[in-house]
Amino acid sequence: MLGMSVERLAELVVARRPCVVLTGAGISTESGIPDFRSPTGVWAQYDPMEYATIDAFLEDPVKVWDFYGKRLALLDDAQPNDGHRSLAELEDRGWVRAVVTQNIDRLHERAGSRALVEVHGSIRTSSCLACGTVVPFAEVVALLPVPACPSCGRILKPDVVMFGELLPEAAIERATQLAAAAGVLLVVGSSLEVYPVAGLPLETLAAGGSLAIVNRGSTPLDARASVTIDGGAGEVLRALADALPERP
Ligand code: APR
Repeated sequence: MLGMSVERLAELVVARRPCVVLTGAGISTESGIPDFRSPTGVWAQYDPMEYATIDAFLEDPVKVWDFYGKRLALLDDAQPNDGHRSLAELEDRGWVRAVVTQNIDRLHERAGSRALVEVHGSIRTSSCLACGTVVPFAEVVALLPVPACPSCGRILKPDVVMFGELLPEAAIERATQLAAAAGVLLVVGSSLEVYPVAGLPLETLAAGGSLAIVNRGSTPLDARASVTIDGGAGEVLRALADALPERP
């Protein structure tokens, strides 16, 4: 069953170039990082309105850092999995033009992806909203549980996009360009529930490109996809890499 679907996905990737990949939290669960909207996801335990909005952070940064501190510790020893590695390999072989990711865990970069757009920021740095000091991840982890700015003492904010914040303009612009120019946009491990990123597949379709979705469970855009595979990101992407010719 999976073999046939992967064959059809490979045919689509060969026929509709270039392929741009859009990933969500589902590609990192096999690295031990919970996603958000699965039944066992983060939002089943924590109310995002209490822990993941900019207003919640400004009102009670200690509480928000209590949540983020646990995630940073988890992310610190997570390793890229077969899904991340397969995408980096497919970029090297000329099949993947770029990866647009909603994830903040740096696993695509650590797997070797180079053409990478992080539309929700990343935990690579945290910043001081008062004086603008930028602090790298390792220093922030050492400053847990409540990282204070080394320059002015104000509590730092993780450089991830919180609900109520605008996305980094250059990143969402680049992501939109890539989606509009994609022959096929391959979505991997995202519920496609959060805008503006969930609108990227619509950019591809509006420009005449095709959509493919690899995800455990359905998404609101499944009916618009030429290929949908309900399977594990690591297994499917490894099978796709094996099914494609070495190079275009
Ligand atoms: N393989 C394939 N799909 C998987 C896997 C896996 N191993 N594990 C989980 N999934 C699926 C889940 O079933 C779910 O449909 O991945 C999807 C992840 O969806 P979400 O948890 O909503 O994550 P995401 O789409 O990235 O969320 C978007 O919401 O909370 C904000 O900023 C946060 O970037 C995040 C954004």
